[in-house]
Amino acid sequence: MTDTLTLRRPDDWHLHLRDGAMLQAVLPYTAAHFARAIIMPNLVPPVVTGAQAVAYRDRILAALPQEAQFEPLMTLYLTEETDPDDVAQAHASGLIKAVKLYPAGATTNSASGVSHFDKVRPTLEKMAEIGLPLCVHGEVTDHDIDIFDREAVFIDRVLDPIRKATPELRVIMEHITTKDAVDYARAQNDRLGATITTHHLVINRNHILAGGIKPHYYCLPVAKREEHRLALRDAATSGETRFFLGTDSAPHTDANKLLPCGCAGCFTAPNTMSILAEVFEQDGKLNALEGFTSLNGPAFYGLDANSDTLTLTKGDAVRYPGHIDSAEGPVTVFDPGYDLHWRVT
Ligand code: DOR
Ligand code: ZN
Repeated sequence: MTDTLTLRRPDDWHLHLRDGAMLQAVLPYTAAHFARAIIMPNLVPPVVTGAQAVAYRDRILAALPQEAQFEPLMTLYLTEETDPDDVAQAHASGLIKAVKLYPAGATTNSASGVSHFDKVRPTLEKMAEIGLPLCVHGEVTDHDIDIFDREAVFIDRVLDPIRKATPELRVIMEHITTKDAVDYARAQNDRLGATITTHHLVINRNHILAGGIKPHYYCLPVAKREEHRLALRDAATSGETRFFLGTDSAPHTDANKLLPCGCAGCFTAPNTMSILAEVFEQDGKLNALEGFTSLNGPAFYGLDANSDTLTLTKGDAVRYPGHIDSAEGPVTVFDPGYDLHWRVT
């Protein structure tokens, strides 16, 4: 029986760190395990210019625990007013590693996102030219499209047309949640990658809705039917290089989750690596874990894998705190609903 697992140190290719007191509270959990993370720009106000990304990166670095070795990989939030030259400059200076596309209204703090995709065409063309990837929140926002169909409809109506119009653009389908997305990704060339979260490998929509509503399992894109979760498990554990980890760990205080209109997001930073080891072991694919967490992502972004390592050890059930404290209030830690046996040592 394998009871020790040493991996190249993992990276998180989609992470929400927030700002201020919340940043202070959550950053140590990611920095303890991950060497780098793609930092989501959906602050209030969003990180839309290079100057704002520099300032945000400095706040993240200032919030790091002293002994931590962690590099935030910054992104810019794409708006209809984004200046392609500002983006190109931020990329040339090494400041940003991607630009993030939120369809306006799709999720938390996405009001400044894109409604008219033609308006961002000059920026997308510039990005294709300079080799800067686009991270995509892939859901349409039309009120007449069922929330469980919004990812599949986005692929047909928005993503595929963007890829056809700008074939050189490198695109990351983020936090995919459907078999449709897995199938689409598999049919594309190597300019398309896809991230998968930890929680979408664990929960389906029954976990959210059957036997009482569970706000802490509510995130966007919302978890779908079991057949979709199984397709994600198959993709993540397949060893295919286009699939890699983006936790979408998205902390909200319990007060903000437990409202009549509660926030979307699962906070998985503390126990993600334990959960993933359990999941990959359940599927008999522990040997594919390192590719998913530590190799495929850097390869897609054209970066070296980390040279240091992370070791997990299997033993008695590991207990994680039900919540962490922040100056804004407690934040519930994602509960996979079963015992975990792998701990980071
Ligand atoms: O569940 C989510 N939470 N999905 C997102 O796309 C945004 C995120 C957040 O920022 O809270
Ligand atoms: Zn996200």
